[in-house]
Amino acid sequence: MGNIDLDAKIPNNVNLSDDKRLQRALEKWLPNFQEWWMDMGPEGFQNDKVLLRTAVSVEKDGWAHFDYVSMPDYRWGIFLAPAEAGRKVNFGDHQGEDAWQQVPGDYRNALKRIIVTQGDTEPASVEQQRLLGKTAPSLYDLRGLFQVNVEEGRHLWAMVYLLHSYFGKDGREEADALLERRSGDEDSPRILGAFNEPITNWLDFFCFTTFTDRDGKYQLRSLAESGFDPLARTCQFMLTEEAHHMFIGATGVGRIIQKTAEVTRDGTDPKQAGVIPLDVVQRAVNLWYSLSLDLFGSEDSSNASLFFSAGLKGRDQESKKFTEHSALEQHYTLERPKDGRIVTEDIPLRRAMNEVLRDAYVKDCEKVVRGFNRTLESCGSDYRITLPHRRFNRAQGVYAGFHFSPQGELLDASQWEAKKHEWLSTDEDHDYVNSIMDRAYTEPGEFAPWISPPARGINSLPVDAEYVKFCR
Ligand SMILES: [Fe+2]
Ligand SMILES: [Fe+2]
Repeated sequence: MGNIDLDAKIPNNVNLSDDKRLQRALEKWLPNFQEWWMDMGPEGFQNDKVLLRTAVSVEKDGWAHFDYVSMPDYRWGIFLAPAEAGRKVNFGDHQGEDAWQQVPGDYRNALKRIIVTQGDTEPASVEQQRLLGKTAPSLYDLRGLFQVNVEEGRHLWAMVYLLHSYFGKDGREEADALLERRSGDEDSPRILGAFNEPITNWLDFFCFTTFTDRDGKYQLRSLAESGFDPLARTCQFMLTEEAHHMFIGATGVGRIIQKTAEVTRDGTDPKQAGVIPLDVVQRAVNLWYSLSLDLFGSEDSSNASLFFSAGLKGRDQESKKFTEHSALEQHYTLERPKDGRIVTEDIPLRRAMNEVLRDAYVKDCEKVVRGFNRTLESCGSDYRITLPHRRFNRAQGVYAGFHFSPQGELLDASQWEAKKHEWLSTDEDHDYVNSIMDRAYTEPGEFAPWISPPARGINSLPVDAEYVKFCR
């Protein structure tokens, strides 16, 4: 591992100062990134001082430093997890060979595509969330939003470092393009669907960080297994930061349903009381969970097969959880719609790697939802949040183009049309939620009436600490 250089223009632990060409190229990209941040980053808060953690090392303890910083001065750095001596390619056709320190020529395009696709999601989410500060339910939540935003910015740096270091001229062009696409733009959208959906309120934000950031967790975990060592080490460290994003999401949804359950316990109508009805939450869960399922790609995929056989992208915890790493001569039993019913079909396991990763994700989401339901139970509510079936509302893969109920039953178009507003967020839901999220709550300790305060504060501070200091 390189030494940690925190004082450099670009903080890093990759010995950037030893490679003047690379350093110059990244320093040229830096002002473009800053310009993008000012244009597309959080609107209206760029002068304020926010209590943010900054990555300063990759040690398990003490990797983060907390301080008040204004976001444009955040120290976005390049940090790779420590190298593992003698690391091998751990799966696929090259199993047992030394892990690659340079891009293997045969897989250059495939690797670049993986890195660009991951990289594109990072600035996309910042763009999607840029207006949310104006309706923050508290200083605690405002800080949480900005923490997520600056770290997604750092994840962009992580991918841009790989593009600049290992992919020459076309890597630099791809790095420029990452700052040119825009979430939701008609002509130049972000690459993946969920990252073009608008996030206009905090219910959507918390669902996004619960379900869509969790897709990120599984993509990063599978890339942390990569035989291309710099990518593996980059993703290992990103996962450290990612955990907090999902914490913000899951506790955010949990605090919303807690508030609703408490307020409506005596039979009060949620909308009369200005809290979010639980069926509105359920529809948002259905929407963001199904959008996030799509991000894993098709159940039966030749790309997934290539990525695995090439040793570029493994399964979740490939090295730890599995004993057989070739995935040859094994099958995955897939359910797919055919002639108006669901049939099963065995496909080669390598072709099913997207679905194998999705399986791990689904299990994780089920755990999160059990947590929501424990909250409801402890508040005396009979309502239960459920995850829809993985076939529900899919636009990618073998279920795309068909209609399914949240229980996974095949429906015809008229059955779907008759029911879909009961299952997916409606305009009315958005209008109501946006109507109660009409301003920011910015006094220390003050919380919007539609959400419970968190159980504890950040970095051992009390819940009512001044997490953001306004400098107007
Ligand atoms: Fe990220
Ligand atoms: Fe994230």
